[in-house]
Amino acid sequence: MQFFLDSANIEEIKQAWDMGVIAGLTTNPSLVAKEGKDFHELLKTVTGIVDGPISAEVIALDHEGMLQEAHVLAGIHPNIVIKIPMTEAGLKTVKVLSAEKIKTNVTLVFAANQALLAARAGATYVSPFLGRLDDIGENGLNLLADMCEIFQVNDLETKIIAASIRNPVHVTEAAKLGADYATVPYGVLRQLFRHPLTDIGIEKFLADWKKL
Ligand code: E4P
Repeated sequence: MQFFLDSANIEEIKQAWDMGVIAGLTTNPSLVAKEGKDFHELLKTVTGIVDGPISAEVIALDHEGMLQEAHVLAGIHPNIVIKIPMTEAGLKTVKVLSAEKIKTNVTLVFAANQALLAARAGATYVSPFLGRLDDIGENGLNLLADMCEIFQVNDLETKIIAASIRNPVHVTEAAKLGADYATVPYGVLRQLFRHPLTDIGIEKFLADWKKL
């Protein structure tokens, strides 16, 4: 499993990229809105930092509108992946973009059948939202387990991005289940580095070293 950062904050993106552990970036309209910057300018900046897939979401809900936005976004940089909501119009758009060799990430996936449909439409990535299922009393990891099994049994090429990750346990379990990627918020990414015994160990080694 590889990591994407889930953020639209330039400082976080720079820091995370410099950590050397992320392979790409995902954004969404809420994350972009929080930054209060022009979306296209933000994407241009980000493509200069992250050398990997960068998911940018369309806002239109109709097929024509999605297609139009997708072409503009894809024109910004070859690394841009078009993020499209899991709807009928969305999958129709995925089909066209896939034929045009434009990469797509089908987002807001909450059921295994939605993921299967997205894969059949030709999505490059699908994003099941683990945390949001947990929020309504379901288990997001069960969805991920079903998807990993279905994709393997059916030999589907579409890559699974475990999304809406809320904690390090989500990350470990997603890796065990065989998700291709986990897209993690900056706070969770930082948490992954830490263990109290690592800090205690460093302190002890340095204390012993000083006695030399
Ligand atoms: C994924 O691509 C989404 O941007 C993201 O993971 C959503 O996470 P949230 O449920 O914490 O908003």
